[in-house]
Amino acid sequence: QTGKFTFDPGYTSTASCESQITFIDGGEGTLLYRGYPIEQLAENTDFIETAYLLLEGELPTSEQCAEFRNNITYHTMVHEHFNKFFDGFRRDAHPMAIMCGAVGALSAFYHDSTDINDPQARKVAVHRMIAKMPTIAAMAYKYTVGQPFVYPRNDLGYTENFLNMCFSVPAEDYEINKTLADALDKIFILHMDHEQNASTSTVRLAGSSGANPFACIAAGIACLWGPAHGGANEAALNMLMEIGSVDKIPEYIGRAKDKSDPFRLMGFGHRVYKNYDPRAKVMQKASHEVLDAVGISDPLLDVAKELERIALEDEYFVEKKLYPNIDFYSGITLRAMGFPPSMFTPLFALARTVGWIAQWREMLEDPNQKIGRPRQIYTGAAKRDFVPMNQR
Ligand code: SDX
Repeated sequence: QTGKFTFDPGYTSTASCESQITFIDGGEGTLLYRGYPIEQLAENTDFIETAYLLLEGELPTSEQCAEFRNNITYHTMVHEHFNKFFDGFRRDAHPMAIMCGAVGALSAFYHDSTDINDPQARKVAVHRMIAKMPTIAAMAYKYTVGQPFVYPRNDLGYTENFLNMCFSVPAEDYEINKTLADALDKIFILHMDHEQNASTSTVRLAGSSGANPFACIAAGIACLWGPAHGGANEAALNMLMEIGSVDKIPEYIGRAKDKSDPFRLMGFGHRVYKNYDPRAKVMQKASHEVLDAVGISDPLLDVAKELERIALEDEYFVEKKLYPNIDFYSGITLRAMGFPPSMFTPLFALARTVGWIAQWREMLEDPNQKIGRPRQIYTGAAKRDFVPMNQR
C-alpha cells in the first residue's frame, strides 16, 4: 500500500533568502544592481567599478576605485605550481571541465589560510577569486588550443589583461582593440549577478555549510555549465549554426512548440523574466558594435534577428511569454571577438564570479545565517513492516 504524505516542515523553507545586491522585476523586465539600472551601469562604468558596487553597496570614489583596482591587479597571478594541475587534462577537454577542476584546486592553495569567520580573510578571498578567474579561464583556453600560458600584466586593465592572456602568443604581441575590450567589459557587467539563479543558490548553499569560498565557486561553475543555465550561450550559437539560414526558421519554431520534441529555442525563455530580458537588448547592441569593429557581417546575426522577429509574433511564444534572454546574442558577439563556443560559458563564469562571491560574503556577514536545508514533499511509500526474502 503506498500513501502520499504532505509534510509540514514546521518552518519557512531555507530555499529563499534575503539579499540587498540585485533586484529583478520579471514582469517589467527590470534589473538593478544595488538600485542602479543595468543599462546605466553597462553604459557608464567598467568591470572594476561595477564589481566594487556589487561588493560594497555604493559606487566607489576615484580613490576607492583605484585602491580596489590595485587589490585585484596584484592578485591576478596564480601559484607557479598551479600550472602543473592542467597537465592532467586531455587537450580536448571542455574548458568548463577544466574550470570546475582548477578553481576547486585553488582550495588546496588557500584553504588553510582562509578563516571565513575573519572579515579581513574574507576580503582577501574575494580579491583572490575575482583576480584569478580571468587568469584561470585564459589558461583553460590556452591549454585547449595548445598554446603556452600567458602571464597577467599589471599595466593592463582587467578585461584587456584577459584578452591579452587569451590571444597573445610568444611570436607576436596581441594588439588590444579598445572597442572589443569595452564591449567585453560591458558583457561582463551584464553577467555579473542575477539574484538567486541556480548557480548563485548553489554557491550560497555550499557556503552555508562553512566550505571554503574557492570550493563554493567551483560548485557554482559546475551548476552554471548546464545548457538550461549558463551553458545556453554555447547552445544558442550551436542552434543558430544548425538552423543556418532564415528559410529554415519555421521548421525550428515548429519543433520548439512540439511537446513531443525535446528541442527548445536556446536563448529564449526565463524562469523569472516574462518580458524582454533587459540584458538581451544591451547584448544585441554590443553585437552590432563588435561586428562593426572587426569589420565582419555575420549571417547568423541575420538568422538571430529573424528568429527573434518571428518568435515574438508567434502566439505560442507570446502566450508563454518567451522572450530572448541574455544568452541569445552573446554567442554571436563572443565568436566575433575570436572566442570558440566552448569558451562562452567560462566567460559567463568569469563575470558571475563577482555576484557569486558578493553573495557568499553577504551571507556570511549575516549573524543569523544558518546552514541551508531545503525540505521536500514526500511522495514515497507509507510506513510498512519488513518482508523476509522467502515471503516476497
Ligand atoms: C540563464 O535564473 C537565472 O537568472 C538564469 C540567468 C542568469 O543570469 O543567471 O538569467 C541565465 O540561465 C538564462 C536562461 C538560459 N537558458 C536558455 O536559454 C535555455 C532555453 N530556455 C529554456 O530551457 C527555459 O526557458 C528555461 C530553462 C530558461 C526556463 O524553463 P521553464 O522554467 O520551463 O520556463 P517557463 O516555466 O517560463 O516555461 C513556460 C513554458 C513551458 O511550457 P509548458 O510547460 O507551460 O507547456 O514555455 C516552455 C516551457 O516548456 N518553454 C519553451 C522555452 N522555454 C520555456 N519552449 C520552447 N523554447 C524555449 N526556449
